[in-house]
Amino acid sequence: MPLWKDGKLGLPVREAVKLFPELNDYLDERGRLDLSNRRARILYNRAIAKVLFGLEIEYHPHGLVTPPISRYLFLKTFLRGGEKVLEIGTGHTAMMALIADKLFDCEVTATELDEEFFEYARGNIERNGAKVRLIKSDGRIIRGVIPEGESFDVIFSAPPYYERPTKGVLTEREGVGGGKYGEAFSVRLIGEARDYLRPGGRVALFLPNKKPLIKAIVGRGEKLGYSVRDVKFKVGTRWRHSLILRL
Ligand SMILES: C[S@@+](CC[C@H](N)C(=O)[O-])C[C@H]1O[C@@H](n2cnc3c(N)ncnc32)[C@H](O)[C@@H]1O
Repeated sequence: MPLWKDGKLGLPVREAVKLFPELNDYLDERGRLDLSNRRARILYNRAIAKVLFGLEIEYHPHGLVTPPISRYLFLKTFLRGGEKVLEIGTGHTAMMALIADKLFDCEVTATELDEEFFEYARGNIERNGAKVRLIKSDGRIIRGVIPEGESFDVIFSAPPYYERPTKGVLTEREGVGGGKYGEAFSVRLIGEARDYLRPGGRVALFLPNKKPLIKAIVGRGEKLGYSVRDVKFKVGTRWRHSLILRL
């Protein structure tokens, strides 16, 4: 486990400031960081990626500020090490693909739809000397993107999960999964995944704590013949779900 010296999976703000002195501009008089500020969030997460995971990450100016710790905790719920994995929608940081490569020694393929995010992902993969194979998606999910006949131990994704565009921090491609509860993208993914999983293979989805969304995906997964495990874990104050579907 990549822990800081205090034994915690986290990085004290004062340590992040040593790495990025610009963070001083976002501290209050008690040394607390203004995490509502996007630039402060990016710098702090870059510091965490660097110190705890040994990764140099460049964030796209408008993309989701992917936090490394939540992604690591998610991967730990289903990776043991050495698996052949596929990530759908790696985003501009390629964070999960890089962690799977570097910390879990996986053989990683990752896809991304957005042109600019794809270029950033490529930069992050090259900057870290990672062996991740990056594939540009044309809007399809697995079929037609991944060569026919190829198979994986695990297919994972932090899928778009909103039912419609939101005013928040996500771009439409990052955010909108479609369907009644935002489940449509995930449902398509688990449907296609069956043809690309090795025997005993699994799909793992990183999801927020939205009950109707989880219920819709679990229901669909069981109909498709998966056995489903819902692993809940806490990141800061928020609950997250790792939905693990096994064939
Ligand atoms: C919620 S974001 C997750 C990004 C990143 N994996 C993370 O952990 O933060 C979903 C990502 O999927 C991408 N995406 C959307 N549709 C896609 C598709 N059909 N194929 C590949 N990527 C897609 C989006 O551009 C976005 O980068």
